[in-house]
Amino acid sequence: MYADRVLSGMRPTGSLHLGHYHGVLKNWLRLQHEYECLFFVADWHALTTHYDNPGAIEEAAWQMVIDWLAAGVDPKRATLFIQSQVLEHAELHLLLSMMTPLGWLERVPTYKDQQERLTEKDLSTYGFLGYPLLQSADILIYRANRVPVGEDQVPHIEFAREIARRFNHLYGREPGYEDKAEAAVKKLGGKKGKLYQELRTRYQERGDEEALASARALLAEAQSLSLGDRERLYGYLEGGGKMILTEPEALLTAASRMPGLDGQKMSKSYHNTIALREDPEAVAKKIRTMPTDPARVRRTDPGDPEKCPVWQFHLVYSNEEVKAWVRQGCTSAGIGCIECKQPVIEAVLRELAPIQERARAYTEEPDLVRNIIADGCEHARDLARETMRDVREAMGLSYG
Ligand code: TRP
Ligand code: SF4
Repeated sequence: MYADRVLSGMRPTGSLHLGHYHGVLKNWLRLQHEYECLFFVADWHALTTHYDNPGAIEEAAWQMVIDWLAAGVDPKRATLFIQSQVLEHAELHLLLSMMTPLGWLERVPTYKDQQERLTEKDLSTYGFLGYPLLQSADILIYRANRVPVGEDQVPHIEFAREIARRFNHLYGREPGYEDKAEAAVKKLGGKKGKLYQELRTRYQERGDEEALASARALLAEAQSLSLGDRERLYGYLEGGGKMILTEPEALLTAASRMPGLDGQKMSKSYHNTIALREDPEAVAKKIRTMPTDPARVRRTDPGDPEKCPVWQFHLVYSNEEVKAWVRQGCTSAGIGCIECKQPVIEAVLRELAPIQERARAYTEEPDLVRNIIADGCEHARDLARETMRDVREAMGLSYG
């Protein structure tokens, strides 16, 4: 059993490129060895911006999962699933929407930013406004406490924390909460019950952290308590109700140094990418035709690596020796740009070779991928159902 649960999602944008590999996937590969991990295709999130062209999403989802697997995400270590195949996300999203203040959603910075940036799309929709709430449901439904995200997504995780807190505050107190808590204290037995009350008073009246710790230890050891009563008394200690949803924390992923072919950030919309499954010949050609320092017009003109996108690639791929060779050769016009690009071409192809090899196994055998996702969805559903049982009960929706 792991103490921490990691969850992360990616919108299905089609085939992944080196920017995704260096920026996100390499991080996932490390995390899958350190934590219980859940990685999912956020296809409903894709619909918030692509509702007018939903047809492309399914294919993009399958291609993306192949890229994850090709990059080395291991289905034996991580649960891989598709958001829309776990309907419980939608139910939690709906229930959370009842208690989500509109102002909180309107204040999320990505809301206005994206609306201003994607002017060609009408994003004044209910679904788009609710994007961070759907994301909160994704996280909270698995009680994931660690969420690897880039800087831009940190406000969404903050938002999810606030939603969890509000939910626990509103619904963590079941009807007759105090009476039930007092009854649970009695079940602790006379001596222990009295000690619990003393410690609780010391903590609540004087903020005595030691008393809180002792009381928690007392509960952890108490064998006479049911699980529900134990949770109740943990909550009662601190004055709140039961903790139903877990507040997640962002695991900030360092910004990737992987630039695009033109020196800007690598992104499909800039047409400056190298896809993970791109043909090696095409990759070599893309790098050979990359722009270089514009001041280096002729072979005899010296250049400045700082002004050259190829240098950014050397920073990612080359060792000190090669980098020294570039610096010296470029600034003295000792090497030509084609020569300079050769080690980059080799390094990129070396990185892609095992990825493409693994991808082949999955593209030749699509059932392999379908089965991995089917298993992942099933596991995810089991976890999601557990949380929903508690959520429904807390909100007075467990009929029967
Ligand atoms: N919003 C995320 C992105 O655009 C994708 C996402 C959806 C996500 N749900 C999530 C990420 C839950 C982490 C956890 O990158
Ligand atoms: Fe860029 Fe290398 Fe040419 Fe210098 S020699 S301009 S670093 S490609």
